[in-house]
Amino acid sequence: MSALEKAFTSKPGKAIAAKAGLKEPPRLARGRTWPEGAIVLAEIGESTLARETLALLGRSVESPIVDDGQEPAPGYGSRIGALVVDATGVTTIDQLEQLRAVLRPAVRGLAKSGRIVTLARPAEGDWEQRSVARALDGINRTVAKELRGGATATLVRVTPDTVAGDLVSTLGFVLQGRSAFVDGQAWSVGHTDSPATALDDRPLDGKVVVVTGAARGIGAAIARTLARDGAHIIAVDIPAAGESLAAVANEVGGSALQLDITAADAGRRIAEHAARAGGIYAVVHNAGITRDKMLVNTDAARWASVLDVNLAAQIRINDILLDPATDGGLVDGGRLVGIASTSGLAGNKGQTNYAASKAGVAGLVEAMAPDLAERLITVNAVAPGFIETEMTGRIPFVQREIFRRSNSLSQGGRPVDVAETIGYLLDPASKAVTGQVIRVCGQNLVGA
Ligand SMILES: NC(=O)c1ccc[n+]([C@@H]2O[C@H](COP(=O)([O-])OP(=O)(O)OC[C@H]3O[C@@H](n4cnc5c(N)ncnc54)[C@H](O)[C@@H]3O)[C@@H](O)[C@H]2O)c1
Repeated sequence: MSALEKAFTSKPGKAIAAKAGLKEPPRLARGRTWPEGAIVLAEIGESTLARETLALLGRSVESPIVDDGQEPAPGYGSRIGALVVDATGVTTIDQLEQLRAVLRPAVRGLAKSGRIVTLARPAEGDWEQRSVARALDGINRTVAKELRGGATATLVRVTPDTVAGDLVSTLGFVLQGRSAFVDGQAWSVGHTDSPATALDDRPLDGKVVVVTGAARGIGAAIARTLARDGAHIIAVDIPAAGESLAAVANEVGGSALQLDITAADAGRRIAEHAARAGGIYAVVHNAGITRDKMLVNTDAARWASVLDVNLAAQIRINDILLDPATDGGLVDGGRLVGIASTSGLAGNKGQTNYAASKAGVAGLVEAMAPDLAERLITVNAVAPGFIETEMTGRIPFVQREIFRRSNSLSQGGRPVDVAETIGYLLDPASKAVTGQVIRVCGQNLVGA
């Protein structure tokens, strides 16, 4: 910790920070915890999708308070834990008023770490319908920015054939503390055959999951979280990180594989290692590096190393593991997850090489998802914002303090927040979620 950082986090330092308008950030509820307080369900239209999904989750629901035009607007008697709005029937601008009328009392009555979740249809239909679909996105992003106390807002798009079992893992994740640092985001859930019937607390029991870059930081948190969910972890990292890699692998009861993922035979070596364990259910491509410089100072070596580790290696490994002829490859019905970054999605000064690689990861999952749908393999990415790790610990203190507060939750995320989102995507019940890039960034103001 630098002298400046020490001064800033000391008692007098905190008092000065408070005077400068820097409040203590809210404490976020994490883990498999449900919101504290009632779950309120508002249905706009005929759909019973949200009601049926909440029933599968075993959650009882209460009716919403509706703003009746009187001032002051009616409020809830006590704090509510969440408002779930089934807005799949919203197709006109006039109907948006019904959304406002249930949101207004709920926003005021929401408990700490509460949730606003809106279900909507994808943008299709006539001009008004399509513009209304985007209007819901604008509402979600803005509500997320206005919420306090660590509460979040999420928009989930569902297709007309989505049933409750397709949605159960998504709604469970969004409502629980597992999604603590996912805020102001929107993603889509489709439909698959034989959808889930409940939320499982150990959804990965006995499944083999490869995590690259697992020796520390986000990768180690991914290994721990997926092991908690029952997975057998193959922890991969470079030989130089061998000691910490072995420590993580031992801690989670998995195995360690010392390997530079850019090696030409990396995919083959992962498969050989996994063949002993009976094939791979999921690969989490977490290993990544930064070699930051302004573009005018970025030489070919800096450019190549970042693109090779963060993107090209991943493609080479996938090619081997997806080849049905590979013994120990990815099983049908398996999962691939890449790690993008908000820097890639929004662009970030001094990171052209990194942004190229991370935007490339987003492009890769969007390209692969439809191609692998027939094998029931899902391909998704998470895009972390500012997460407290050794990587971000190297940023100078003042700059770091600005980055970590530049989001709707006014704090940096934790590695476990990224890990929990990956756990949700790996859940067998999430098989209707593919081709998505989910930001884990607390609604980072950069390109939000
Ligand atoms: N920390 C953040 O705020 C943040 C934000 C956005 C994205 N990310 C991404 O999340 C991932 C993890 O980040 P982190 O902060 O934990 O980083 P980190 O530097 O703490 O850990 C990365 C790990 O990857 C390993 N690794 C690097 N090159 C490798 C190679 N060629 N072969 C095998 N292993 C290799 C490293 O040894 C290290 O253990 C990275 O892809 C990073 O780009 C992080």
